[in-house]
Amino acid sequence: MPYYFKLGQVPPKRHIQFRRPDGALYSEEVFGTEGFVGPTTTLYHIHAPTQVTGWKAMYSTTPRYVEVDTMRMRHLKTTPMQPKGDPVTGRVILFGNSDCEISVCVPAEPMEYHYKNGMGDECIFVHHGSGTVHTAFGTLRFRRKDYIIIPKGTIYRMVFDETAEGDPAPRMLVIETANGSHILPPPRYLSKKTSQFLEHAPYCERDLRTPELPLTFDESGEFEVRIKALHKVHRYVYDYHPLDVVGWDGCYYPYLFNIDDFSPITGTLHMPPPTHQTFEAHNFVICSFCPRALDYHPQAVPIPYNHSNIDSDEVLYYVEGNYKARKGIEIGSVTLHPQGIPHGPHPGTVEGSLGKNWTNELAVMCDTFRPLYPTQAALDLDDAAYPESWTGEHVPKTAGKHHPDGQHKVPARTVSEAVDTSG
Ligand SMILES: [Fe+2]
Repeated sequence: MPYYFKLGQVPPKRHIQFRRPDGALYSEEVFGTEGFVGPTTTLYHIHAPTQVTGWKAMYSTTPRYVEVDTMRMRHLKTTPMQPKGDPVTGRVILFGNSDCEISVCVPAEPMEYHYKNGMGDECIFVHHGSGTVHTAFGTLRFRRKDYIIIPKGTIYRMVFDETAEGDPAPRMLVIETANGSHILPPPRYLSKKTSQFLEHAPYCERDLRTPELPLTFDESGEFEVRIKALHKVHRYVYDYHPLDVVGWDGCYYPYLFNIDDFSPITGTLHMPPPTHQTFEAHNFVICSFCPRALDYHPQAVPIPYNHSNIDSDEVLYYVEGNYKARKGIEIGSVTLHPQGIPHGPHPGTVEGSLGKNWTNELAVMCDTFRPLYPTQAALDLDDAAYPESWTGEHVPKTAGKHHPDGQHKVPARTVSEAVDTSG
């Protein structure tokens, strides 16, 4: 995060003596990024954070991509995915490249350990479920439709609340950086002088939920911390609770942002995807398509024009809304529209959208600047009919609605009707 925050106890100056109640010094740790010229936080531990044992390599995290030389539209129906693993081991990578990895996780079991991703930042979008992320920076209470931003190196453990009867099981979309870059708000939303969110930004500091107490777990014993590094998860053992921080301050920490707190930017004519941008990292962006008023020019076409986003691959995860107009798409669907061929509305949907003034779509998009590759897990969920789902009569001749004088007839406005504009 770009702005300064403080939690717990910190001494009045950096790098001075700061003592525990028993008189011993706390262990200061400067948690720096980009060679100590990027966002940095200073933490105060009860124990020396270097005091660990063992380095057992556990399992590889290198994704295996398939069809790396095949360019086609893809649609995955992820709803049938069966629960497996925990909130970390249960992540099933569907698409990725050397910049990011995109997975869906339907966890079956709790994390019995703490975890540190030493290779990249994580953006966890909670589709279903609620719970707590216990981190070295404090506690994050998450709920449905939260983005959980966990910066590289954060020790954490994710605990889901028990699922109430009738509620869907926990489910997450996870986007991890694979190039070591950090997931941050777009710089154009921020003041160059103060990093404060500017007035045109679709969200601001008040929408971001920062870590809270409890922060400190002063316990001894044997605590497993799994660290992802060098494309492998390693097991380390701490003889004290790894979340032993009594205080910290700085600009590098995890936080929450609920997608319902994204305030969409609307216009008289169709607004392009960058208006939906929420986060970015090197070579990819994350966007939120949220319920909103549609374009209000009297002759507006409220769904997207056909477009070639010639430098990007585009992945959409469909969270909520009515997607009947998009052939085969359902809640939990993931589509990939690759660079190389244009995409746009399905047949008949343009005429059908005219006059609509509201969409209830909710989708998360990840646009990458380098091609994405599928895994075998993605192929296992593939909807083979999707690539040819644009065939058919796009502009039915019978749909012409013209006044005798040649002027186009403007359809009457309708209220609260849904139309899919994502993608
Ligand atoms: Fe698109």
